[in-house]
Amino acid sequence: MPMQPWFSDAKLGIFIHYGIYAVDGVPESWSFYTGKVPHDQYMKQLDRFTASKYDPQAWAELFARVGAKYAVLTARHHDGVALWDTEQGDLNVVRHTPAGRDLLAGYTDALREQGLKVGLYYSHSDWNHPDYASTVHTDPPNEEVVGNRYASAAPGTEDPEAWARFLAYRNAQVAELVEHFRPDLLWFDGEWERSEEQWKMRELSEEILAGNPETVLNARMLSYGDYATPEQGVPLQAPDGPWELCLTVNDSWGYQHDDHNHKSVRQLVRYFAETIGMGGNLLLDVGPREDGTIPAEQIERLEGLGGWIAKHCGAVYGTVAGLPAGHHYGPSTLSADRRTLYLICFDTPRETIGLRGLRTPVKRVSVIGSGTELGHRVIGGLGEVPGVQWIDAPTGADVDEYATVLAVELDGELDLYQGSGRG
Ligand code: GLC
Repeated sequence: MPMQPWFSDAKLGIFIHYGIYAVDGVPESWSFYTGKVPHDQYMKQLDRFTASKYDPQAWAELFARVGAKYAVLTARHHDGVALWDTEQGDLNVVRHTPAGRDLLAGYTDALREQGLKVGLYYSHSDWNHPDYASTVHTDPPNEEVVGNRYASAAPGTEDPEAWARFLAYRNAQVAELVEHFRPDLLWFDGEWERSEEQWKMRELSEEILAGNPETVLNARMLSYGDYATPEQGVPLQAPDGPWELCLTVNDSWGYQHDDHNHKSVRQLVRYFAETIGMGGNLLLDVGPREDGTIPAEQIERLEGLGGWIAKHCGAVYGTVAGLPAGHHYGPSTLSADRRTLYLICFDTPRETIGLRGLRTPVKRVSVIGSGTELGHRVIGGLGEVPGVQWIDAPTGADVDEYATVLAVELDGELDLYQGSGRG
């Protein structure tokens, strides 16, 4: 199944880690797994999860305004707490929290009203499920268990009947998501504790695609995924095929009140430009408070990035990966017809910008935003080896606060020289 075109064209998605862990502001699921927080204390957050200001329309409007084309919400994290009224067990926010209602329906409707694609995150692993061996809940945390997550219940060593029951539970929950919410994207996680065969990924993917053949699946469906998902670590070379970098705005996926280490707008513009310059999407994560509001620091950063995207939308949407390293000192994108290159300059250029190895003649260079035309000329070159295309540096108000983008209109489709310089 070829990748859904909406995914490759999306460029920006918003990841939302929303769950009971926002009550105390502790790491999602991991805090009880590692023993940082005793298991019963973690679960007591259920009693104070209110979603009292949950306003998915406001989320969707924000995401659309900042230029995102899809969002991914944690329908169920490794802690097993479902955000919808699942018929599989009763660990969900509808029956066990003051929120008392399904949180997915409003989200999916609001996104669709804004023309955004709907993504749902779902963890294969469930560290609270009695049939899922790998975690031992001890209170107080047992030092021998902490730091050795498989201390007494190695994955795959459980009773085969228990494992079959667990897979039936997982498959039925995923089927509920597909049937009730018809997600455009299912973003799986938590696959690392078992093999593809143990997870029965083929059967799961067949069931999902039978329900909706257009569902996009991430790589945590292992070989049944449609695209690669580097996480936090910025790739230096584009992964093969479609891909998406997921990245937190601060250092945490979920809401943590002590984490003020937010990336700056300028840094986010860099991550975004580098990602789309290599043909990927950025899935930028926010962590709403337990009441459902997104912290102001995160909204400000999304809006800052969104402002840059709006000004430079021609260099963002409808483009593909730009030049390989070495031709321009910064990322670039290329129009789908391969006739316009967009050069992104993070720093204030001095005197000239050199574009190397370009065989296609340049018709016109202009600054995106102001439209100011810039002089350009080729110097040097011999035989097969093209000279350097020197572009006059933009100055004054033509220099963008975050990253200046030059549109280089080519006289034909992009043709590059990548040799070692001998004519
Ligand atoms: C990791 C973490 C998880 C987080 C996810 C996002 O897999 O286990 O907490 O949700 O990354 O990609």
